[in-house]
Amino acid sequence: MNYKTLDPNKTYLITGAAGFIGYYLSKGLLEQGCQVIGFDNVNDYYDVNLKHTRLGKLEPYERFTFIKGDISDKDLVLKTFEEYKPNVVVNLAAQAGVRYSIENPDVYIQSNIIGFYNILEACRYNPVDHLVYASSSSIYGANKKVPFEETDFVDNPVSLYASTKKSNELMAHTYSHLYKIPATGLRFFTVYGPMGRPDMAYFGFADKYFADEPIKIFNNGDFEKDLYRDFTFIDDIVEGIERLLSNPPEGEIQHKVFNIGNNSPEKLMVFIETLEKALSKALGKEVQFEKIFEPIKPGDVPATYASIDQLQKAVGFKPETSIEEGLQKFADWYVDYYNLRD
Ligand SMILES: NC(=O)c1ccc[n+]([C@@H]2O[C@H](COP(=O)([O-])OP(=O)(O)OC[C@H]3O[C@@H](n4cnc5c(N)ncnc54)[C@H](O)[C@@H]3O)[C@@H](O)[C@H]2O)c1
Repeated sequence: MNYKTLDPNKTYLITGAAGFIGYYLSKGLLEQGCQVIGFDNVNDYYDVNLKHTRLGKLEPYERFTFIKGDISDKDLVLKTFEEYKPNVVVNLAAQAGVRYSIENPDVYIQSNIIGFYNILEACRYNPVDHLVYASSSSIYGANKKVPFEETDFVDNPVSLYASTKKSNELMAHTYSHLYKIPATGLRFFTVYGPMGRPDMAYFGFADKYFADEPIKIFNNGDFEKDLYRDFTFIDDIVEGIERLLSNPPEGEIQHKVFNIGNNSPEKLMVFIETLEKALSKALGKEVQFEKIFEPIKPGDVPATYASIDQLQKAVGFKPETSIEEGLQKFADWYVDYYNLRD
């Protein structure tokens, strides 16, 4: 496979470094000897202790520098680029979450649109080898044709979150075209794993179980027409990103988007049963959630399913971790972190 491996002599600016994906990517790069500048506003959208725990694990690395700041602060973003002169920028800072975009749309415009614009402006005035940024599988909206391919029509987003991510792809395309910025957008598919995001369903289900509360499942209670999700384990996401970092798009169009997903959608109910089994094993006793079934939430999509042909063609990689393996790692971490063993 003809792709360039990671260059440890480069400086990597990773925004959202206190976040779930940003933390694991930063750690992966630091372990390979790279210089990493982490940038994050450490906001309280979810438990900040988890963000501090992640940062605490990055701080011992000599080649790690952390900047607490907001990407919507243009002066600070420009100053950071001027001072550290990153060769590669990975923009993961964003307001994530589909449902929260109905509750608090302002923060999505601030972080995902204005913040991302500032990153693009900074790349315009401080040329980089590669700008990699997070998009999302949610931009496929309610598309029926599966698997989702990068060339599919994606102009019908069903949440403001998805609109901001689709806008990022458009903005990146324009900046790449106008200012010759090599840029890659990554459409992540439902990422899960240890130290993951507490606002995501699998984490919330574990929280509810230990709080002795029922879990709510938004699938109409219809197991035949259940929701399908391409659940992707964090290590696979990090490997996919790492492989792409030294391989910016070449040729006339220097902007490309890739799906990174498991290419193997699971029924939501199967995922939940697997989580019950994983928690049972971690605790050494049987775990069964009390379940309440509710209608599908506005903005949620019925299925996500990634085609990963493009990723495989570019860097020879396909996520392979099964939900049994991935959820076991999550469950083992969860019971340890919250000290839940008897
Ligand atoms: N986890 C998933 O399943 C998933 C799926 C699709 C796309 N994504 C995207 O991947 C990226 C990383 O997601 P994650 O799951 O690690 O989320 P996360 O919320 O754990 O991480 C994002 C980090 O960015 C920081 N941040 C938010 N707004 C900021 C701002 N304005 N300035 C500076 N820092 C800011 C937050 O404090 C947080 O630590 C996001 O862009 C998200 O939209 C994630």
